[in-house]
Amino acid sequence: MSRPHAVVTGGAGFLGSHLVDTLLDDGYHVTSLDNYGSGRPENLVHVESDRFESLEHDVRDPLPDFDRVDEVYHMASRASPEDFESHAVEIALTNSEGTRNAIECALDHDATVLLASTSEVYGDPEVHPQHEDYNGSVNVRGPRTPYDESKRFGEALAVAYDQQYEVDVRTVRIFNTYGPRMRPDDGRVIPNFLSQALHGDDLTVYGDGTQTRSFCYVDDLIGGIRAVATADRSAAAGEVFNVGNTDEMEIRELAEVVLDVVDTESGITHEPLPEDDPQVRRPDISKITAEFDWEPAVPLREGLSRTVADYRELL
Ligand SMILES: NC(=O)c1ccc[n+]([C@@H]2O[C@H](COP(=O)([O-])OP(=O)(O)OC[C@H]3O[C@@H](n4cnc5c(N)ncnc54)[C@H](O)[C@@H]3O)[C@@H](O)[C@H]2O)c1
Repeated sequence: MSRPHAVVTGGAGFLGSHLVDTLLDDGYHVTSLDNYGSGRPENLVHVESDRFESLEHDVRDPLPDFDRVDEVYHMASRASPEDFESHAVEIALTNSEGTRNAIECALDHDATVLLASTSEVYGDPEVHPQHEDYNGSVNVRGPRTPYDESKRFGEALAVAYDQQYEVDVRTVRIFNTYGPRMRPDDGRVIPNFLSQALHGDDLTVYGDGTQTRSFCYVDDLIGGIRAVATADRSAAAGEVFNVGNTDEMEIRELAEVVLDVVDTESGITHEPLPEDDPQVRRPDISKITAEFDWEPAVPLREGLSRTVADYRELL
């Protein structure tokens, strides 16, 4: 195997499957490891390459033996707030024990790790926009705690393995990302809105809809991840980078854009805001832009149109 070998945990998920496509395009041998908890084998059925292997594997167990590994992309973890309570233990262990297993695999093979962290490590932020130096404001005993705190612990493991074993772990804090292959019943806001609009149902806005988010199209996000993963060790090892789009909007404004893009007569209804739902969310991406000249390029309406085309087929 002369080409580099990338292992993608969570490869059958939304982001993982797009990453698999990109890695194969870039000439890698790729192995996907997934327990199909929130991912779908259908996300990978289009892959015909003989450089690709898909294994059913739960990362809470040590990773399989491989002859060679060059890069580990640790993407596995349920990420929908719908799952934060019903799959709390699984999520907490996937982001702790699973992260340990991913880093141990890299340690065995002298490989690099790309760790998928999240903007949730900032909690309900008191600093806006969020820069990597901000330590966050996470509720340590709330419904989102198993996800948020286990992601923070995953980052702590990255620091620990760097300090003790000099493992090259690069962390990306991913902000809200959307695009084709998100499950329509995923429970995150864009899949919710698109499914409701395409079914002709009213869009459910939680609270008054003045809470903000910044939405990044998946192709842009994968570009950011690859920029970090392929950078020189001196520029990226042990570092953390926000990756996301800086175009911040209120959720009620997003609902209007979705209604317009889908071109439906659906309306908008309101339900109470869930506990600990962050009020604002926008990445400061000055670090990744300065280091790797990366910034998102796909405007929201364009990205939504591409996602709607995918959803029309799915639904
Ligand atoms: N999409 C976003 O907006 C976003 C934002 C912040 C962080 N992230 C992070 O990016 C990663 C991918 O998220 P996504 O949006 O693609 O979610 P997803 O649910 O579509 O993908 C996650 C994948 O991980 C798999 N998985 C979960 N637990 C596993 C386990 N124990 N063993 C093996 N496989 C397991 C799932 O089956 C799924 O295929 C996650 O780590 C998530 O926390 C995503």
